[in-house]
Amino acid sequence: MKSKKVLLRVDLNVPVSHGVVDDDFRIKKTLPTIEKLRKEGAKVILLSHVGEKDGTLRPIYSYLRNYFPVKFVEDVYKAKDIVGSMEETEVVLFENLRKWEGEKDNNPEFAKHLASFGDLYINEAFSASHREHSSIVGIPKHLPSSLGDLFKKEVEELSKVFDPQHPFVFVLGGVKFSTKIPLIEKFLDKADQIHIAGALMNDMYKAKGFPVGKSVVDDSFDPSEKILNSSNLFLPTDVVVEDSKGEVYIKKPEEVLPNEKIMDIGPESLEKIHNDIIKCEFILWNGPLGNYENGYSEGTNELAHRISESGKDSIIGGGDTLSVVSKLNILDKFTFVSTAGGAMLDFLANGTLPGIEALK
Ligand code: 3PG
Repeated sequence: MKSKKVLLRVDLNVPVSHGVVDDDFRIKKTLPTIEKLRKEGAKVILLSHVGEKDGTLRPIYSYLRNYFPVKFVEDVYKAKDIVGSMEETEVVLFENLRKWEGEKDNNPEFAKHLASFGDLYINEAFSASHREHSSIVGIPKHLPSSLGDLFKKEVEELSKVFDPQHPFVFVLGGVKFSTKIPLIEKFLDKADQIHIAGALMNDMYKAKGFPVGKSVVDDSFDPSEKILNSSNLFLPTDVVVEDSKGEVYIKKPEEVLPNEKIMDIGPESLEKIHNDIIKCEFILWNGPLGNYENGYSEGTNELAHRISESGKDSIIGGGDTLSVVSKLNILDKFTFVSTAGGAMLDFLANGTLPGIEALK
């Protein structure tokens, strides 16, 4: 690695508030790879996205400077001099790649332009590798390329889910059921119990003919008979609802009124999940159980505590899940915490990701 210019694709897409990094879990997981390359005498060029085209990596640049000197490149088309003058162990961070259309469009010229800055490419962004973007699948066409240590660890740990210990409990929350159908269908045959929560439960209630009032639903959800009639897929038997005046109640799903929104799972349902957890050997959890952005994080917090105290093998992931759980300071109590959200789900559903295939 000595003197080599390494294009290191990382995922610095982290929550920022008032210009300050709010949750540094992903960044901290990436630091050892950067340090390792610096120790080996590489010149490290960090590539990432953050949010969409309006996002800026400046807050992350300030954060990284607490660890090592970093230079910031605002414009990928004016990077030649700064990259050309890099010394061994130096780190340069390019501004949010999504500022340029070529990134998301996987434009071959954009990928070639990015590749021109490096001698080799390492993908350390497992959590962004479900995207067929230039910095994930385009650059490897031009440079000797490999997967980073963190990426390999994600693959190794998440692959355990394909041959799990039983009983195996899968808890799936979050939103947009339609995007999770392949994953659920696959795991109906693998998991002993699948507990559905988050806004996904609203979609299932609706599909089963329960009233969902003003709850968030995914209009494109069209469940298969396999999902609707499965005997190992469980929905909460009580829910927390908020009415139009902001009053909060715990109800049976069949009692939800037209002016109410389902916001979280109820205590009885949490006990049911807990009962399965204490009897199981392996737990997989992705996605918050309730609408935590609006303060309904109780179910998610409680589940996090119950899993972390169970002593069972557990894998958790999902950006939103981590936002909630990292505030509890118990991330080290799980067997493995994935840095990924959507990429974790895609990897579990397909056993691979575009970012992995691009290196084959
Ligand atoms: C993530 O946060 O899951 C990754 O950084 C990918 O981000 P995206 O969903 O905006 O592509």
